[in-house]
Amino acid sequence: MFEPTKNDRFSFGLWTVGWQARDPFGDATRPALDPVESVHRLAELGAWGVTFHDDDLLATEPDRDKAVAAFRKALEDTGLVVPMATTNLFTHPVFKDGAFTSNDRDVRRYALRKVMRNLDLAAELGARTYVCWGGREGAETDAAKDVRAALDRYKEALDILCGYVRDKGYDIRFALEPKPNEPRGDILLPTIGHAIAFIGELEHPEMVGLNPEVGHEQMAGLNFVHGVAQALWHGKLFHIDLNGQHGIKYDQDLVFGHGDVKSAFFLVDLLENGGYDGPRHFDYKPTRTEDIDGVWESAAANMRTYLILKERAAAFRADPEVQEALAASRVNELAEPTLAPGETYEDLAKDDFDPDEAGRRGYHYARLDQLAVEHLLGAR
Ligand code: GCO
Ligand code: MN
Ligand code: MN
Ligand code: MN
Repeated sequence: MFEPTKNDRFSFGLWTVGWQARDPFGDATRPALDPVESVHRLAELGAWGVTFHDDDLLATEPDRDKAVAAFRKALEDTGLVVPMATTNLFTHPVFKDGAFTSNDRDVRRYALRKVMRNLDLAAELGARTYVCWGGREGAETDAAKDVRAALDRYKEALDILCGYVRDKGYDIRFALEPKPNEPRGDILLPTIGHAIAFIGELEHPEMVGLNPEVGHEQMAGLNFVHGVAQALWHGKLFHIDLNGQHGIKYDQDLVFGHGDVKSAFFLVDLLENGGYDGPRHFDYKPTRTEDIDGVWESAAANMRTYLILKERAAAFRADPEVQEALAASRVNELAEPTLAPGETYEDLAKDDFDPDEAGRRGYHYARLDQLAVEHLLGAR
């Protein structure tokens, strides 16, 4: 039980297990990992897919052709697929003021070239989603950035990249990954809501959706489950980054479920029952205190935690007492349109309604919440 298989569609970024644990205060605590080894280890642990930034492939082999050939062979040997790829537009000093929205036009042009080059490789490897995390798109002072011009340039970049994908005939859609801050003081498109509104202004909005990350909304004090539900409602949940976070602080990138576990429970319930059929992608960082054994233990922990929560959520839904509590809380009544078929607003005047009586009705959410907590804790 709780053993991952390829049917679970679990995927990992090469940069997750490969993180050497450099932080702003300290050096790496782990050696560089050969992507070939990561592919093999992830496959042994039961993962289905692996994702990468262009630069991740060069972790131990600087020659791009050799690195790509070795990676391709590891994929063939293990059967791992590449559902998603992305671009590193944040490590090199050239991106210190952003990539698509750097004030420096030369940098913006270079960034687009870097993305297009990796899009070719992504398409060759069969990726269907291309993530854009704009970690450096932002500012530390409002004097430095004309945000309206920056959004023009962000839109221009995505319009160009959508045009490129269409011209090449690639079967790829873009997924924007919101984050409120870190590494920039304030990042553009900071939340799911900002990104959804932005997508509506693009030339090909149907080609662009979201890759929300658990910790990024929680860093802003927002409810990730609500954000994901809204993304689903807009048809924009193209991909997801699962990890853990404890509230409003720096980006922790903990193992999935090792932060706000109750939110993780409701998230799995939503993903399993809400119509999401994309990869279950983990974007976490093995904590700096782990050695290489701890890296693989933590990778396995992500998948096991997901499967446990999936089982707990199913048990919650199947419990007759929960069904009864849901009915008592009138949760399903919300799916019923407020006007009956054929009614207009004029019919609202005909209601015989006593607001004082309705104001006394309880919703019994405490009982429902307790049932969820008990299922989550394995007490039922
Ligand atoms: C973060 C981000 C990054 C991006 C990844 C893709 O933790 O701030 O999640 O990890 O997802 O680099 O570009
Ligand atoms: Mn993160
Ligand atoms: Mn991420
Ligand atoms: Mn991350």
